[in-house]
Amino acid sequence: MPDITLSQTPAHVRHGSSIGQPLTRRDGVLKVTGGARYAADQHPPGMLYAVLAVSSIARGRVAFLDVAAAKAYPGVVEVITPANRPALAQDPDERSDLFTFRLDLLQSDRVRYANQPIAMVIAETLEAATQGAALLVPRYEIEPAQIGLDATASFVPPAVGPGFPAEVHRGDIEAGLTSASKKIAVSYETPAQYHNPMEPHAIVAVWDGDMLSIDTPSQGLALAQGRLASLFGISPDNIHIRSPFLGGGFGCKGFITGPQVLGAIAARAVGKPVKLVLSREQMFGPVGHRAPTQQTLRLGTNQDGKLIALDHRTKTMSSTFDDFFEPASGISHALYASAAIATSHEAVRNDVGTPMFMRAPGEATGSIALESAIDEMAQACGVDPLAFRLKNYAEVEPISGKPFSSKALRECYRQGAERFGWEGRPLAPRQMRDRDGLLVGWGVGTAVFPALMFAGHAKAVVRRDGSGVMETGAHDMGQGAGTALAQIAADALGLDLDRLEFRSGSSDLPDAGIAGGSSHTATAGMAIHNAGADVIGRLAELATNDHRSPLFGAGNAGVIARGGRLFRRDDESRSESYADILGRAGLAQIEGHGTSAADGVAQSSYAMYAHGAVFAEVRVDPDLGQIRATRVIGAFAAGRIINPRMVRSQLCGGMIWGISFALHEQAMMDPRSGRPMNANLAEYHIPVNADVPSLEAILVEEHDPHVNALGIKGVGEIGITGTAGAVANAVWHATGLRVRHFPITLDRLIGSQTGSG
Ligand code: MOS
Repeated sequence: MPDITLSQTPAHVRHGSSIGQPLTRRDGVLKVTGGARYAADQHPPGMLYAVLAVSSIARGRVAFLDVAAAKAYPGVVEVITPANRPALAQDPDERSDLFTFRLDLLQSDRVRYANQPIAMVIAETLEAATQGAALLVPRYEIEPAQIGLDATASFVPPAVGPGFPAEVHRGDIEAGLTSASKKIAVSYETPAQYHNPMEPHAIVAVWDGDMLSIDTPSQGLALAQGRLASLFGISPDNIHIRSPFLGGGFGCKGFITGPQVLGAIAARAVGKPVKLVLSREQMFGPVGHRAPTQQTLRLGTNQDGKLIALDHRTKTMSSTFDDFFEPASGISHALYASAAIATSHEAVRNDVGTPMFMRAPGEATGSIALESAIDEMAQACGVDPLAFRLKNYAEVEPISGKPFSSKALRECYRQGAERFGWEGRPLAPRQMRDRDGLLVGWGVGTAVFPALMFAGHAKAVVRRDGSGVMETGAHDMGQGAGTALAQIAADALGLDLDRLEFRSGSSDLPDAGIAGGSSHTATAGMAIHNAGADVIGRLAELATNDHRSPLFGAGNAGVIARGGRLFRRDDESRSESYADILGRAGLAQIEGHGTSAADGVAQSSYAMYAHGAVFAEVRVDPDLGQIRATRVIGAFAAGRIINPRMVRSQLCGGMIWGISFALHEQAMMDPRSGRPMNANLAEYHIPVNADVPSLEAILVEEHDPHVNALGIKGVGEIGITGTAGAVANAVWHATGLRVRHFPITLDRLIGSQTGSG
C-alpha cells in the first residue's frame, strides 16, 4: 500500500474535503521525538512520589504493617494506611449508578483480591518510596481464595455489560433443536485477559486549597471529573484534568481507577504535588480485566443447511464485591439468521479484582466461540464455511427483526475472499502443506460491532483573520482521534486544516463523551459538525442579510463553506471570505456550539452495526504444534471513513488483538494463592511483529443514512471480532484438531491430538 508518500496537507484539500484524506497523525512527530508529555512525564516543583503497597494474598485481612520501619527510612514523608487515610465525602463502596464502580481506597483492612492496594508510601524520591513500601512487610490473616469458574456457586446476574438483560430469547430453541436435521453442542473456554496498555495508569496531582489539578490518562474526562468531585466533596468545576496523550486505553482508562484516586488522596494528605505510577505487576488487579468465560453453544440446521436454532450460554466471573459481567452471548443476537435464538449468562464470584470493559467487551469473547461453533456446524453440514455463513446471512437483525441501517457484509465477504484467494480451499482439514512441510490452514470469521453514539459537546470559533478554533474534550489514546476529529472540524468550519486550531484532551473543554464503545468519532465528530454548522449559519446570516455582500439574498440554505469562504450554492462565482464578513460586521470573532446525541427514532427503527469478514492463514509445525498466523486479511464496512490511514491502523490493531486472543493471551491464576502468575509482559504474551507477518485491512464502501448525519459507525473494536475465530478455524483447517480452550497454545494442540486437550 503506497500510503507513506502522502503529505500532511495534500494540495487538493483546498477545493475538496478534509474528511476522507489519509492524513498522518497530527501528533506523530511529537510522539516519535519524545515531545509528547504523558501524565508520568510531569514534574511540578516540590513534587513527591507515592508508591502503592499491594496485597500478596487474594482474600483475608491485613493484620499488621510495619509503618514505623517505613517511616524511619530516609526520605519517606508519610505512610497512608486504612488507619490514617483522610476521610472522603463518598464511600468508595457506594454504587450510585451503573457506571460508578466500587474502588479500593484504603477504606478497610479487608483484602478482596491479589494486588489490591493496602498502603501507600510517600517520599522525596521514587527509590525511597519504593523501599518504604517494601519495609511494610505486611502480615495477613489469610482466608482460602476462591479462584476458577467452578469454584463457587453460580447465579444469573441482574444484567450484563452496560445493563443488558442476562437472558434473551426468540422462538422455541428446544423445539428447533429437536426438529433439526443436523445439530452440534460445543463448549469453549476463554481465559482472563488484562488490558496492559504500554502506559500504565499514572497520576500527578496538585491541590491548591479545594482546587485539584491533575495529569492522568483518561478515556472519559467528564466522568472522571464527576467521580473525583463526589469522592472529595468538591464541585466538578474545582477539578482540572489534563489528558492530552494516552499510551493506550482499551477500556481500562474509561473510568477513573482506585490507584489514580489514591494519587490525589496522597497529594492532599501531604499538601504537596504527588506522582503515582503503577508498576506493570500492579496493573493485574485494581484496574480491571476481561473475565474468563465458559461458553456452550447448541446449533441446529434444517435439511437446507439453514440454522433453525442457536443457543449461546455463557458462564463468567465477577469479583466478590462488585458487578461487571462479560456479555459474551450477546453477539449471537446480531449475526446469523435463525428461527430460534436463545442467549443467557450465569456468573460466579471469585476473589479477583472487578472485571471491566475491555476492547470489544463481550463481542470479542463471544465472537471466538460463535465463529468457532459456526465453523463446526458448517463442517457437520459438509459445507464450505464461507458458503455456510452466506447461506445464513441475516437480512434483518436476527433477535429483533429490525432492518439494518446499512450492512455491506456481503461485499466484505466478497472482497476479502477475493483478496485472500479463498476459492479452491480444500473442504477437508490437513490438506495443505508448504515447502517446509508445515501444515497450512485457512479460516474465516465474521466481524460485527454495534454502531454506538453518546452525548457530546463542542464549541467553535471563527476569527476575523480567517482562522478557526474547535474545542472539545476528546481523548486520543493513540487511535488518532486528534487527527480524525480535526478533519471533521475543518470541514464543519469550511477551513483548510492549517487554519484550524483543534483543542482537546482537557476537562475544561466541552464534554466530548467517553471514548469507548467505538463511538468516539461519531459522538465527538457530530458535536463538532454541529458546532461548525452553528458558526457557518451565523456567518451566512450576516452575509446574506447585508446588501454589501456578494451573497446578499442567497439565504442560509443557499451557501456552502469552503477554504475560509462562503459561496452561493447556485452561483459559485459569488463568494465572500469569513474575514470580510466579520470585518464588515465589526466582529473580532463569531462563536458557535454543537451537541450530539443518538437519534432515538432511528435507533428504535434500525439495527446499527459495522461488519467485516476476516480471512486467516496459519502454519502449524506438525511435530511441535507451533502455530504462526502468516496472513490475515480483513474487509470491513463501517460507514463513512474519516481518515483511511487511521482507520486501517485501528482495524489492523484490532486484528492483532484477535490473533492474540486466539493464540497468545492469557492470565494464569494460581488457584492456591489467587495471584496472577504471569503479571508481566514477558510471560503475559501478546503478539510482537514476528507473530504477525502479513496483515491487511480493506475498507469496503458503505453509506449509512441513519446512524448519524456524517454516516460514521466506528472502527475501534470491530477488528478483534471475527479475527480470533478466523485464526482458530484456520488452526483446525491446518491440523484437523479442534482446540476449544483458548488461547490455542502448542501444548493444547498436541494435547488434543492425544485426546487430553
Ligand atoms: Mo472500550 S472497552 O469501549 O474502551
